[in-house]
Amino acid sequence: MAEITRDVLIVGAGAAGLTAANDLRKAGLSVAVLEARDRVGGRLWTDVIDGAMLEIGGQWVSPDQDALKDALEELGLSTYSRYREGESVYIGPSGELTRFTGDIFPVAPATEKIMVDLIERLDAMVAEIDPDRPWAHPDAEALDEVSFEQWLAVQTDDQEARDNIALFIAGAMLTKPAHAFSTLQALLMAASAGSFSNLVDADFILDERVVGGLQQVPLLLAERLGDDVLLNQPVRSLEWGDAGVTATTDDLTVRARFAILAHAPVLYNRISFVPPMPRRQHQLHQHLSMGFVIKVHAVYDRPFWREQGLSGTAFSPYELSHEAYDNTNHGDERGTLVGFVSDKHADGVFELSAEERKERILESLSHYYGPEAKNPVVYYESDWGSEEWTRGAYAASFDLGGLHRYGKDLRTPVGPIHFACSDLAGAGYQHVDGAIRMGHLVASDIVEASRSTSAAAGSAHTSAAAGSAQ
Ligand code: FDA
Repeated sequence: MAEITRDVLIVGAGAAGLTAANDLRKAGLSVAVLEARDRVGGRLWTDVIDGAMLEIGGQWVSPDQDALKDALEELGLSTYSRYREGESVYIGPSGELTRFTGDIFPVAPATEKIMVDLIERLDAMVAEIDPDRPWAHPDAEALDEVSFEQWLAVQTDDQEARDNIALFIAGAMLTKPAHAFSTLQALLMAASAGSFSNLVDADFILDERVVGGLQQVPLLLAERLGDDVLLNQPVRSLEWGDAGVTATTDDLTVRARFAILAHAPVLYNRISFVPPMPRRQHQLHQHLSMGFVIKVHAVYDRPFWREQGLSGTAFSPYELSHEAYDNTNHGDERGTLVGFVSDKHADGVFELSAEERKERILESLSHYYGPEAKNPVVYYESDWGSEEWTRGAYAASFDLGGLHRYGKDLRTPVGPIHFACSDLAGAGYQHVDGAIRMGHLVASDIVEASRSTSAAAGSAHTSAAAGSAQ
Protein backbone atom coordinates (compact mmCIF):
# COMPACT_ATOMS: atom_id res chain seq x y z
CA MET A 1 0.00 0.00 0.00
CA ALA A 2 1.64 3.27 -1.14
CA GLU A 3 1.37 6.28 1.18
CA ILE A 4 1.39 10.00 0.46
CA THR A 5 0.92 13.09 2.63
CA ARG A 6 -0.62 16.39 1.54
CA ASP A 7 -2.20 19.46 3.16
CA VAL A 8 -5.59 18.69 1.59
CA LEU A 9 -7.03 15.55 0.01
CA ILE A 10 -9.96 15.96 -2.34
CA VAL A 11 -12.37 13.14 -3.11
CA GLY A 12 -13.68 13.55 -6.67
CA ALA A 13 -12.21 15.09 -9.82
CA GLY A 14 -15.34 16.85 -11.02
CA ALA A 15 -15.61 20.59 -11.60
CA ALA A 16 -15.99 21.27 -7.85
CA GLY A 17 -13.04 19.19 -6.66
CA LEU A 18 -10.67 20.37 -9.37
CA THR A 19 -11.58 24.04 -8.84
CA ALA A 20 -10.91 23.68 -5.12
CA ALA A 21 -7.61 21.85 -5.77
CA ASN A 22 -6.34 24.59 -8.09
CA ASP A 23 -7.29 27.36 -5.64
CA LEU A 24 -5.59 25.55 -2.76
CA ARG A 25 -2.44 25.04 -4.82
CA LYS A 26 -2.41 28.76 -5.67
CA ALA A 27 -2.66 29.50 -1.92
CA GLY A 28 0.46 27.40 -1.33
CA LEU A 29 -1.17 24.23 0.01
CA SER A 30 -0.32 20.80 -1.36
CA VAL A 31 -3.20 18.65 -2.67
CA ALA A 32 -4.07 15.17 -3.88
CA VAL A 33 -7.29 14.59 -5.85
CA LEU A 34 -8.55 11.02 -5.58
CA GLU A 35 -10.94 10.03 -8.37
CA ALA A 36 -12.85 6.74 -8.47
CA ARG A 37 -13.26 6.67 -12.25
CA ASP A 38 -10.61 6.23 -14.94
CA ARG A 39 -11.27 9.79 -16.16
CA VAL A 40 -11.77 13.26 -14.73
CA GLY A 41 -14.92 15.40 -15.12
CA GLY A 42 -17.58 13.42 -13.25
CA ARG A 43 -20.88 14.55 -14.75
CA LEU A 44 -18.98 16.36 -17.53
CA TRP A 45 -18.03 13.87 -20.19
CA THR A 46 -17.43 14.41 -23.89
CA ASP A 47 -16.89 11.29 -25.96
CA VAL A 48 -16.89 10.15 -29.59
CA ILE A 49 -19.63 7.57 -30.17
CA ASP A 50 -19.79 5.93 -33.61
CA GLY A 51 -17.89 8.90 -35.05
CA ALA A 52 -20.06 11.59 -33.41
CA MET A 53 -18.76 13.91 -30.68
CA LEU A 54 -21.38 13.84 -27.92
CA GLU A 55 -21.63 15.69 -24.62
CA ILE A 56 -22.90 12.84 -22.47
CA GLY A 57 -23.29 14.99 -19.35
CA GLY A 58 -23.55 18.76 -18.79
CA GLN A 59 -23.04 21.10 -21.71
CA TRP A 60 -24.99 24.40 -21.62
CA VAL A 61 -23.88 27.73 -20.20
CA SER A 62 -26.33 30.52 -19.30
CA PRO A 63 -25.60 34.27 -19.08
CA ASP A 64 -25.88 34.49 -15.27
CA GLN A 65 -23.28 31.76 -14.67
CA ASP A 66 -20.42 34.11 -13.81
CA ALA A 67 -18.25 31.54 -12.04
CA LEU A 68 -18.36 29.19 -15.03
CA LYS A 69 -17.89 32.06 -17.48
CA ASP A 70 -14.82 33.27 -15.57
CA ALA A 71 -13.41 29.73 -15.63
CA LEU A 72 -14.00 29.44 -19.39
CA GLU A 73 -12.21 32.73 -19.97
CA GLU A 74 -9.34 31.86 -17.68
CA LEU A 75 -8.91 28.49 -19.40
CA GLY A 76 -9.04 30.09 -22.87
CA LEU A 77 -12.19 28.23 -23.96
CA SER A 78 -14.63 29.73 -26.44
CA THR A 79 -18.40 29.38 -26.68
CA TYR A 80 -21.04 29.33 -29.40
CA SER A 81 -24.80 29.88 -29.37
CA ARG A 82 -27.34 27.11 -29.37
CA TYR A 83 -29.09 27.08 -32.78
CA ARG A 84 -32.38 28.93 -32.37
CA GLU A 85 -33.42 30.30 -35.79
CA GLY A 86 -37.01 29.51 -36.76
CA GLU A 87 -40.05 28.28 -34.90
CA SER A 88 -40.34 26.08 -31.83
CA VAL A 89 -42.99 23.38 -31.50
CA TYR A 90 -45.42 22.51 -28.71
CA ILE A 91 -47.61 19.43 -28.47
CA GLY A 92 -50.76 19.85 -26.35
CA PRO A 93 -52.79 17.33 -24.32
CA SER A 94 -54.69 15.95 -27.31
CA GLY A 95 -51.52 15.48 -29.36
CA GLU A 96 -51.96 18.50 -31.63
CA LEU A 97 -48.72 20.21 -32.71
CA THR A 98 -48.46 24.01 -32.83
CA ARG A 99 -45.50 26.08 -33.99
CA PHE A 100 -44.63 29.18 -31.99
CA THR A 101 -42.00 31.80 -31.26
CA GLY A 102 -41.12 33.35 -27.88
CA ASP A 103 -41.30 31.70 -24.46
CA ILE A 104 -44.98 31.12 -23.81
CA PHE A 105 -46.37 27.91 -25.23
CA PRO A 106 -49.18 28.35 -27.80
CA VAL A 107 -52.11 27.37 -25.58
CA ALA A 108 -55.71 28.69 -25.48
CA PRO A 109 -55.87 32.39 -24.43
CA ALA A 110 -57.39 31.58 -21.02
CA THR A 111 -54.66 29.02 -20.29
CA GLU A 112 -52.02 31.45 -21.51
CA LYS A 113 -53.27 34.10 -19.09
CA ILE A 114 -53.11 31.62 -16.20
CA MET A 115 -49.58 30.58 -17.17
CA VAL A 116 -48.40 34.20 -17.40
CA ASP A 117 -50.00 34.96 -14.00
CA LEU A 118 -48.37 31.90 -12.42
CA ILE A 119 -44.96 32.83 -13.82
CA GLU A 120 -45.34 36.37 -12.39
CA ARG A 121 -46.42 34.98 -9.02
CA LEU A 122 -43.53 32.54 -8.94
CA ASP A 123 -41.08 35.30 -9.95
CA ALA A 124 -42.30 37.38 -7.00
CA MET A 125 -41.89 34.45 -4.59
CA VAL A 126 -38.47 33.56 -6.00
CA ALA A 127 -37.33 37.17 -5.52
CA GLU A 128 -37.84 36.65 -1.75
CA ILE A 129 -35.66 33.54 -1.63
CA ASP A 130 -31.93 33.72 -0.91
CA PRO A 131 -30.60 30.71 -2.87
CA ASP A 132 -27.86 30.28 -0.26
CA ARG A 133 -30.39 30.24 2.61
CA PRO A 134 -33.85 29.23 1.34
CA TRP A 135 -34.66 27.88 4.83
CA ALA A 136 -34.39 31.45 6.17
CA HIS A 137 -37.55 32.56 4.31
CA PRO A 138 -40.30 33.34 6.86
CA ASP A 139 -42.64 30.78 5.19
CA ALA A 140 -39.92 28.19 4.55
CA GLU A 141 -41.49 25.49 6.68
CA ALA A 142 -44.95 25.82 5.12
CA LEU A 143 -43.53 26.02 1.59
CA ASP A 144 -41.39 22.95 2.25
CA GLU A 145 -44.27 20.83 3.46
CA VAL A 146 -46.41 21.19 0.35
CA SER A 147 -45.42 19.56 -2.94
CA PHE A 148 -45.07 21.72 -6.04
CA GLU A 149 -47.92 19.70 -7.60
CA GLN A 150 -50.21 20.47 -4.62
CA TRP A 151 -49.23 24.14 -4.68
CA LEU A 152 -50.09 24.39 -8.40
CA ALA A 153 -53.40 22.59 -7.82
CA VAL A 154 -54.39 25.25 -5.28
CA GLN A 155 -53.53 28.06 -7.72
CA THR A 156 -55.60 26.87 -10.70
CA ASP A 157 -57.80 24.07 -11.95
CA ASP A 158 -56.48 24.53 -15.51
CA GLN A 159 -54.63 21.22 -15.92
CA GLU A 160 -52.67 22.25 -19.02
CA ALA A 161 -51.36 25.39 -17.29
CA ARG A 162 -50.34 23.27 -14.28
CA ASP A 163 -48.66 20.64 -16.45
CA ASN A 164 -46.65 23.26 -18.32
CA ILE A 165 -45.54 25.23 -15.27
CA ALA A 166 -44.60 22.00 -13.47
CA LEU A 167 -42.54 20.93 -16.49
CA PHE A 168 -40.05 23.81 -16.11
CA ILE A 169 -39.01 22.57 -12.67
CA ALA A 170 -39.99 18.89 -12.54
CA GLY A 171 -39.08 17.20 -15.87
CA ALA A 172 -36.66 19.90 -16.98
CA MET A 173 -34.65 20.63 -13.82
CA LEU A 174 -35.07 18.47 -10.71
CA THR A 175 -36.01 15.49 -12.95
CA LYS A 176 -38.45 14.21 -10.35
CA PRO A 177 -42.27 14.19 -10.55
CA ALA A 178 -43.82 17.41 -9.17
CA HIS A 179 -45.42 15.47 -6.29
CA ALA A 180 -41.96 14.39 -5.08
CA PHE A 181 -40.41 17.74 -4.14
CA SER A 182 -41.56 20.74 -2.19
CA THR A 183 -42.53 24.21 -3.31
CA LEU A 184 -39.52 25.57 -1.37
CA GLN A 185 -37.25 23.22 -3.36
CA ALA A 186 -38.89 24.47 -6.59
CA LEU A 187 -38.31 28.09 -5.53
CA LEU A 188 -34.66 27.33 -4.72
CA MET A 189 -34.22 25.81 -8.19
CA ALA A 190 -35.60 28.98 -9.80
CA ALA A 191 -33.74 31.35 -7.42
CA SER A 192 -30.47 29.59 -8.25
CA ALA A 193 -31.01 30.59 -11.90
CA GLY A 194 -32.05 34.18 -11.06
CA SER A 195 -35.84 33.86 -11.54
CA PHE A 196 -38.60 31.51 -12.62
CA SER A 197 -38.82 33.42 -15.92
CA ASN A 198 -35.22 32.45 -16.64
CA LEU A 199 -36.19 28.77 -16.48
CA VAL A 200 -39.06 29.38 -18.89
CA ASP A 201 -36.72 31.07 -21.37
CA ALA A 202 -34.80 28.31 -23.19
CA ASP A 203 -32.67 30.96 -24.91
CA PHE A 204 -31.45 32.05 -21.47
CA ILE A 205 -31.01 28.80 -19.60
CA LEU A 206 -29.64 26.89 -22.61
CA ASP A 207 -27.79 29.78 -24.18
CA GLU A 208 -24.31 28.67 -25.18
CA ARG A 209 -22.04 25.65 -25.52
CA VAL A 210 -18.29 25.33 -25.34
CA VAL A 211 -16.37 24.65 -28.55
CA GLY A 212 -14.96 21.14 -28.09
CA GLY A 213 -17.25 20.34 -25.13
CA LEU A 214 -17.68 21.43 -21.52
CA GLN A 215 -15.58 18.56 -20.18
CA GLN A 216 -12.57 20.61 -21.21
CA VAL A 217 -13.06 22.64 -18.01
CA PRO A 218 -12.16 19.71 -15.72
CA LEU A 219 -9.65 18.32 -18.22
CA LEU A 220 -7.68 21.58 -18.29
CA LEU A 221 -7.98 22.09 -14.53
CA ALA A 222 -6.66 18.55 -14.00
CA GLU A 223 -3.80 19.14 -16.43
CA ARG A 224 -2.55 21.96 -14.20
CA LEU A 225 -2.46 19.59 -11.24
CA GLY A 226 -0.46 16.92 -13.07
CA ASP A 227 0.38 13.88 -10.93
CA ASP A 228 -1.64 15.22 -8.01
CA VAL A 229 -4.78 13.88 -9.72
CA LEU A 230 -4.94 10.14 -9.13
CA LEU A 231 -7.43 8.11 -11.20
CA ASN A 232 -8.98 4.71 -10.35
CA GLN A 233 -8.79 5.60 -6.66
CA PRO A 234 -12.25 5.14 -5.10
CA VAL A 235 -11.99 6.30 -1.50
CA ARG A 236 -13.27 3.43 0.64
CA SER A 237 -12.62 4.79 4.13
CA LEU A 238 -11.83 8.08 5.80
CA GLU A 239 -10.42 8.30 9.32
CA TRP A 240 -10.77 11.76 10.81
CA GLY A 241 -10.02 13.64 14.00
CA ASP A 242 -8.20 16.66 15.44
CA ALA A 243 -4.93 15.58 13.84
CA GLY A 244 -6.40 15.48 10.33
CA VAL A 245 -7.62 12.79 7.93
CA THR A 246 -6.44 9.53 6.42
CA ALA A 247 -8.13 8.26 3.26
CA THR A 248 -7.74 4.73 2.04
CA THR A 249 -8.37 3.51 -1.50
CA ASP A 250 -7.69 -0.04 -2.78
CA ASP A 251 -3.95 0.59 -3.09
CA LEU A 252 -3.18 3.97 -1.56
CA THR A 253 -3.22 5.73 1.82
CA VAL A 254 -3.35 9.53 1.82
CA ARG A 255 -2.79 11.57 4.99
CA ALA A 256 -3.79 15.24 5.08
CA ARG A 257 -4.84 18.04 7.39
CA PHE A 258 -8.19 18.51 5.62
CA ALA A 259 -10.46 16.52 3.29
CA ILE A 260 -13.00 17.78 0.77
CA LEU A 261 -15.80 15.47 -0.29
CA ALA A 262 -16.39 16.86 -3.80
CA HIS A 263 -19.05 14.53 -5.13
CA ALA A 264 -22.81 14.00 -5.07
CA PRO A 265 -24.09 13.76 -1.48
CA VAL A 266 -25.85 10.45 -2.24
CA LEU A 267 -22.37 8.91 -2.44
CA TYR A 268 -21.14 9.92 1.05
CA ASN A 269 -22.36 6.60 2.37
CA ARG A 270 -20.05 4.74 -0.02
CA ILE A 271 -17.23 5.83 2.31
CA SER A 272 -16.71 4.21 5.68
CA PHE A 273 -16.05 7.04 8.16
CA VAL A 274 -13.98 6.33 11.26
CA PRO A 275 -15.37 7.51 13.63
CA PRO A 276 -18.84 7.57 12.01
CA MET A 277 -20.27 10.89 10.84
CA PRO A 278 -22.37 12.69 13.48
CA ARG A 279 -26.09 11.92 13.89
CA ARG A 280 -27.12 15.10 12.08
CA GLN A 281 -25.22 14.15 8.90
CA HIS A 282 -26.46 10.54 9.09
CA GLN A 283 -30.02 11.85 9.02
CA LEU A 284 -29.49 14.75 6.62
CA HIS A 285 -27.85 12.63 3.93
CA GLN A 286 -30.79 10.24 3.83
CA HIS A 287 -33.16 13.05 2.82
CA LEU A 288 -31.37 13.76 -0.45
CA SER A 289 -31.82 11.76 -3.64
CA MET A 290 -30.77 12.04 -7.27
CA GLY A 291 -33.25 12.92 -9.99
CA PHE A 292 -33.32 10.76 -13.09
CA VAL A 293 -33.28 11.74 -16.75
CA ILE A 294 -32.08 10.07 -19.96
CA LYS A 295 -30.30 12.47 -22.30
CA VAL A 296 -30.90 11.12 -25.82
CA HIS A 297 -28.59 12.01 -28.70
CA ALA A 298 -29.74 11.47 -32.30
CA VAL A 299 -27.37 12.46 -35.10
CA TYR A 300 -28.60 12.84 -38.71
CA ASP A 301 -26.76 13.35 -42.00
CA ARG A 302 -28.09 16.96 -41.98
CA PRO A 303 -30.18 19.18 -39.67
CA PHE A 304 -33.34 18.40 -41.70
CA TRP A 305 -35.71 20.24 -39.32
CA ARG A 306 -34.08 23.55 -40.22
CA GLU A 307 -35.33 23.04 -43.82
CA GLN A 308 -38.88 23.12 -42.37
CA GLY A 309 -38.18 26.43 -40.63
CA LEU A 310 -37.87 24.76 -37.22
CA SER A 311 -35.38 25.84 -34.57
CA GLY A 312 -35.33 22.34 -33.11
CA THR A 313 -36.70 23.58 -29.77
CA ALA A 314 -39.66 21.42 -28.78
CA PHE A 315 -41.75 20.99 -25.61
CA SER A 316 -44.61 18.87 -24.39
CA PRO A 317 -45.46 17.60 -20.93
CA TYR A 318 -47.53 14.96 -22.77
CA GLU A 319 -44.66 13.46 -24.78
CA LEU A 320 -42.19 10.78 -23.69
CA SER A 321 -39.41 13.24 -24.54
CA HIS A 322 -40.74 16.33 -22.76
CA GLU A 323 -38.17 18.70 -24.32
CA ALA A 324 -35.76 18.52 -27.26
CA TYR A 325 -33.30 20.87 -28.97
CA ASP A 326 -31.00 21.29 -31.94
CA ASN A 327 -27.70 20.16 -30.48
CA THR A 328 -25.55 20.32 -33.61
CA ASN A 329 -21.89 20.70 -32.75
CA HIS A 330 -19.93 23.80 -33.69
CA GLY A 331 -18.88 23.58 -37.35
CA ASP A 332 -20.56 20.17 -37.88
CA GLU A 333 -22.37 19.54 -41.18
CA ARG A 334 -24.41 16.81 -39.61
CA GLY A 335 -27.41 17.69 -37.46
CA THR A 336 -27.88 16.53 -33.88
CA LEU A 337 -31.05 16.52 -31.83
CA VAL A 338 -30.99 16.08 -28.08
CA GLY A 339 -34.11 14.95 -26.26
CA PHE A 340 -34.80 14.30 -22.57
CA VAL A 341 -36.87 11.53 -20.96
CA SER A 342 -37.40 12.20 -17.28
CA ASP A 343 -38.37 10.54 -13.97
CA LYS A 344 -41.27 8.03 -14.28
CA HIS A 345 -41.02 8.04 -18.09
CA ALA A 346 -37.34 7.09 -17.80
CA ASP A 347 -38.22 4.26 -15.39
CA GLY A 348 -40.84 3.07 -17.86
CA VAL A 349 -38.62 2.90 -20.94
CA PHE A 350 -35.91 1.08 -18.97
CA GLU A 351 -38.45 -1.74 -18.55
CA LEU A 352 -38.22 -2.23 -22.33
CA SER A 353 -35.51 -3.85 -24.45
CA ALA A 354 -32.89 -1.45 -25.85
CA GLU A 355 -34.45 -1.75 -29.33
CA GLU A 356 -37.98 -1.04 -28.10
CA ARG A 357 -36.75 1.86 -25.98
CA LYS A 358 -34.97 3.44 -28.94
CA GLU A 359 -38.07 2.98 -31.10
CA ARG A 360 -40.34 4.59 -28.48
CA ILE A 361 -38.01 7.55 -27.93
CA LEU A 362 -37.47 8.19 -31.65
CA GLU A 363 -41.23 7.90 -32.19
CA SER A 364 -41.64 10.70 -29.64
CA LEU A 365 -39.04 12.85 -31.40
CA SER A 366 -40.83 12.22 -34.73
CA HIS A 367 -43.97 13.79 -33.26
CA TYR A 368 -42.02 17.06 -33.04
CA TYR A 369 -39.91 16.89 -36.21
CA GLY A 370 -41.65 14.44 -38.59
CA PRO A 371 -40.82 10.86 -39.69
CA GLU A 372 -37.19 11.62 -40.64
CA ALA A 373 -36.41 11.84 -36.92
CA LYS A 374 -36.87 8.05 -36.73
CA ASN A 375 -33.71 7.35 -38.73
CA PRO A 376 -30.61 8.83 -37.11
CA VAL A 377 -27.16 7.69 -38.23
CA VAL A 378 -25.97 7.71 -34.61
CA TYR A 379 -28.17 7.11 -31.56
CA TYR A 380 -27.01 7.18 -27.93
CA GLU A 381 -28.66 7.34 -24.52
CA SER A 382 -26.76 8.92 -21.62
CA ASP A 383 -27.76 6.70 -18.73
CA TRP A 384 -26.33 8.21 -15.56
CA GLY A 385 -28.58 6.04 -13.42
CA SER A 386 -26.31 3.08 -14.03
CA GLU A 387 -23.09 5.02 -13.36
CA GLU A 388 -21.87 3.75 -9.99
CA TRP A 389 -20.16 7.04 -9.10
CA THR A 390 -23.14 9.29 -9.94
CA ARG A 391 -26.38 7.22 -9.71
CA GLY A 392 -28.77 9.59 -11.47
CA ALA A 393 -29.06 12.93 -13.25
CA TYR A 394 -28.84 15.78 -13.14
CA ALA A 395 -28.28 16.15 -9.41
CA ALA A 396 -29.56 15.66 -5.86
CA SER A 397 -32.47 17.42 -4.18
CA PHE A 398 -34.32 17.09 -0.88
CA ASP A 399 -37.48 15.11 -0.26
CA LEU A 400 -40.62 16.88 1.02
CA GLY A 401 -39.76 18.87 4.13
CA GLY A 402 -36.04 18.08 3.99
CA LEU A 403 -34.75 21.42 2.73
CA HIS A 404 -35.92 23.61 5.61
CA ARG A 405 -35.14 20.88 8.15
CA TYR A 406 -31.60 20.01 7.07
CA GLY A 407 -30.49 22.47 4.36
CA LYS A 408 -28.50 24.75 6.67
CA ASP A 409 -26.11 21.93 7.57
CA LEU A 410 -25.47 20.69 4.03
CA ARG A 411 -22.16 22.52 3.82
CA THR A 412 -21.25 22.60 7.52
CA PRO A 413 -17.79 21.01 7.91
CA VAL A 414 -17.44 17.95 10.14
CA GLY A 415 -14.09 18.38 11.91
CA PRO A 416 -11.48 18.50 9.11
CA ILE A 417 -13.99 17.25 6.47
CA HIS A 418 -15.44 19.88 4.14
CA PHE A 419 -18.08 19.50 1.41
CA ALA A 420 -18.31 20.87 -2.14
CA CYS A 421 -20.53 19.90 -5.07
CA SER A 422 -23.00 21.49 -7.49
CA ASP A 423 -25.75 19.78 -5.49
CA LEU A 424 -24.96 21.92 -2.42
CA ALA A 425 -24.83 25.25 -4.28
CA GLY A 426 -27.11 28.29 -4.00
CA ALA A 427 -26.53 30.23 -7.24
CA GLY A 428 -25.81 27.67 -9.96
CA TYR A 429 -27.43 24.83 -7.97
CA GLN A 430 -27.34 21.55 -9.94
CA HIS A 431 -25.12 23.21 -12.57
CA VAL A 432 -21.42 23.40 -13.35
CA ASP A 433 -21.47 27.04 -12.31
CA GLY A 434 -22.59 25.94 -8.82
CA ALA A 435 -19.89 23.25 -8.70
CA ILE A 436 -17.23 25.87 -9.45
CA ARG A 437 -18.69 28.28 -6.88
CA MET A 438 -18.63 25.53 -4.25
CA GLY A 439 -15.04 24.66 -5.20
CA HIS A 440 -13.91 28.28 -4.70
CA LEU A 441 -15.85 28.62 -1.44
CA VAL A 442 -14.54 25.44 0.18
CA ALA A 443 -10.96 26.28 -0.83
CA SER A 444 -11.17 29.74 0.75
CA ASP A 445 -12.68 28.23 3.93
CA ILE A 446 -9.80 25.74 4.16
CA VAL A 447 -7.15 28.38 3.48
CA GLU A 448 -8.59 30.41 6.35
CA ALA A 449 -8.85 27.39 8.66
CA SER A 450 -5.31 26.38 7.75
CA ARG A 451 -4.00 29.89 8.57
CA SER A 452 -5.75 29.96 11.92
CA THR A 453 -4.49 26.49 12.89
CA SER A 454 -0.94 27.47 11.79
CA ALA A 455 -1.21 30.73 13.78
CA ALA A 456 -2.47 28.82 16.85
CA ALA A 457 0.37 26.29 16.47
CA GLY A 458 2.83 29.19 16.04
CA SER A 459 1.68 30.99 19.19
CA ALA A 460 1.67 27.70 21.15
CA HIS A 461 5.21 27.15 19.91
CA THR A 462 6.22 30.71 20.89
CA SER A 463 4.72 30.46 24.38
CA ALA A 464 6.29 27.01 24.85
CA ALA A 465 9.64 28.50 23.80
CA ALA A 466 9.07 31.52 26.07
CA GLY A 467 8.14 29.16 28.92
CA SER A 468 11.29 27.11 28.52
CA ALA A 469 13.45 30.27 28.57
CA GLN A 470 12.14 31.33 31.99
P1 FDA B 1 -19.40 15.44 -10.17
O1 FDA B 1 -20.41 14.39 -9.90
O2 FDA B 1 -19.26 15.91 -11.56
O3 FDA B 1 -17.96 14.95 -9.70
C1 FDA B 1 -17.77 14.14 -8.56
C2 FDA B 1 -16.63 13.17 -8.83
O4 FDA B 1 -16.40 12.43 -7.63
C3 FDA B 1 -16.92 12.14 -9.91
O5 FDA B 1 -15.90 12.17 -10.87
C4 FDA B 1 -16.98 10.81 -9.16
O6 FDA B 1 -16.49 9.75 -9.93
C5 FDA B 1 -16.08 11.09 -7.97
N1 FDA B 1 -16.34 10.26 -6.79
C6 FDA B 1 -17.53 9.99 -6.21
N2 FDA B 1 -17.34 9.22 -5.11
C7 FDA B 1 -16.00 8.99 -5.00
C8 FDA B 1 -15.18 8.26 -4.09
N3 FDA B 1 -15.69 7.60 -3.03
N4 FDA B 1 -13.84 8.23 -4.30
C9 FDA B 1 -13.27 8.90 -5.34
N5 FDA B 1 -14.02 9.61 -6.24
C10 FDA B 1 -15.36 9.65 -6.07
N6 FDA B 1 -24.93 21.45 -15.80
C11 FDA B 1 -24.81 22.58 -16.52
O7 FDA B 1 -24.27 23.57 -16.02
N7 FDA B 1 -25.28 22.63 -17.82
C12 FDA B 1 -25.88 21.55 -18.42
O8 FDA B 1 -26.26 21.59 -19.59
C13 FDA B 1 -26.02 20.36 -17.65
N8 FDA B 1 -26.59 19.26 -18.18
C14 FDA B 1 -26.45 18.04 -17.57
C15 FDA B 1 -26.79 16.86 -18.25
C16 FDA B 1 -26.58 15.63 -17.65
C17 FDA B 1 -26.99 14.38 -18.38
C18 FDA B 1 -25.99 15.56 -16.36
C19 FDA B 1 -25.71 14.23 -15.70
C20 FDA B 1 -25.65 16.72 -15.68
C21 FDA B 1 -25.87 17.97 -16.29
N9 FDA B 1 -25.52 19.16 -15.65
C22 FDA B 1 -25.49 20.33 -16.35
C23 FDA B 1 -25.09 19.15 -14.24
C24 FDA B 1 -23.57 19.22 -14.11
O9 FDA B 1 -22.96 18.33 -15.00
C25 FDA B 1 -23.18 18.90 -12.66
O10 FDA B 1 -23.92 19.75 -11.80
C26 FDA B 1 -21.69 19.13 -12.37
O11 FDA B 1 -20.89 18.62 -13.41
C27 FDA B 1 -21.34 18.46 -11.04
O12 FDA B 1 -19.98 18.68 -10.73
P2 FDA B 1 -19.40 18.22 -9.31
O13 FDA B 1 -17.94 18.41 -9.38
O14 FDA B 1 -20.15 18.88 -8.23
O15 FDA B 1 -19.76 16.65 -9.19
